[in-house]
Amino acid sequence: MTLEIRAVDPVSRPAFAGVVTGVDLTRPLSAGTVAAIAAGMDRFAVLVFPDQLLDDAQQKAFAVNFGPLEQATGDLAQGAERRLAMDVNDISNLDREGRVLAREDRRRLFGLGNRLWHSDSSFKPTPAKYSALSARVIPAAGGNTEFADMRAAYDALDDATKAEVEGLVCEHSQLFSRATLGFDDFTEDERRRFAPVPQRLVRRHPVTGRRSLFLASHAGAIRGWPMPEARAFLRDLTEHATERRFVYAHVWRPWDLVMWDNRVTMHRARPFDAREVRDMHRVTVADVAPTLEQAA
Ligand code: OGA
Ligand code: MN
Repeated sequence: MTLEIRAVDPVSRPAFAGVVTGVDLTRPLSAGTVAAIAAGMDRFAVLVFPDQLLDDAQQKAFAVNFGPLEQATGDLAQGAERRLAMDVNDISNLDREGRVLAREDRRRLFGLGNRLWHSDSSFKPTPAKYSALSARVIPAAGGNTEFADMRAAYDALDDATKAEVEGLVCEHSQLFSRATLGFDDFTEDERRRFAPVPQRLVRRHPVTGRRSLFLASHAGAIRGWPMPEARAFLRDLTEHATERRFVYAHVWRPWDLVMWDNRVTMHRARPFDAREVRDMHRVTVADVAPTLEQAA
């Protein structure tokens, strides 16, 4: 097998979203293969690996090639309430018994936050580097995942806006993203767990040196700015950054694994029939440090 990576859409988006063939992710990878995938991530930011029949252990063994795994401390379900292990994010609509969550279920309503554009774990002091999402069961229709290229979005800003965003620091929290949907049913423990953290608004990729916007619906404030002005500014930036020209919409097939670089992309889930099963497992690679401790 020879590893091959080609652009999903070579004409309109030659450097965003690639499809990887000629690799079996259920097996240990050579150092050369890991390096080729990392180089593909630096170029495309989103990679689709079709037909990878992974279990959680194999998915974790794949992801750990790219850095240490995160714990799912941002999930609502913790401890004995969890369906999956602590190092696997449960991106499903299922309870511990594998039943579809009721429409009003608090876990489902919290999970609807994924429908808002975001970058995974931007609400943690050290946010996520890569996320690797495996589609185990998908609904008959809908449930796409959309990805937006924050490098291209940054490049397309006018010079005045580039000057304005440079050096800004945002506060990120899941309390902010959920408040946007009218979900404020948090316990005291959850409010403590989801306390806001600071993140740079403009990041520089450690390998390519390219700048990108670090946006997410979790961003609810800009340090030193009045709140409404910050919110309005972030809303405008997000509107720009998620214009269709920057977006790849992934239509899932069972056993797709999609890996994305959270440092340079946002993503969001699209709706589907809430009575159908959608079972996705995510393993997340942590970044090296809080963004304020990384080179500007
Ligand atoms: C995620 C996520 C979107 C989706 O796994 O982090 O936001 O379509 N998923 O399920
Ligand atoms: Mn996500």
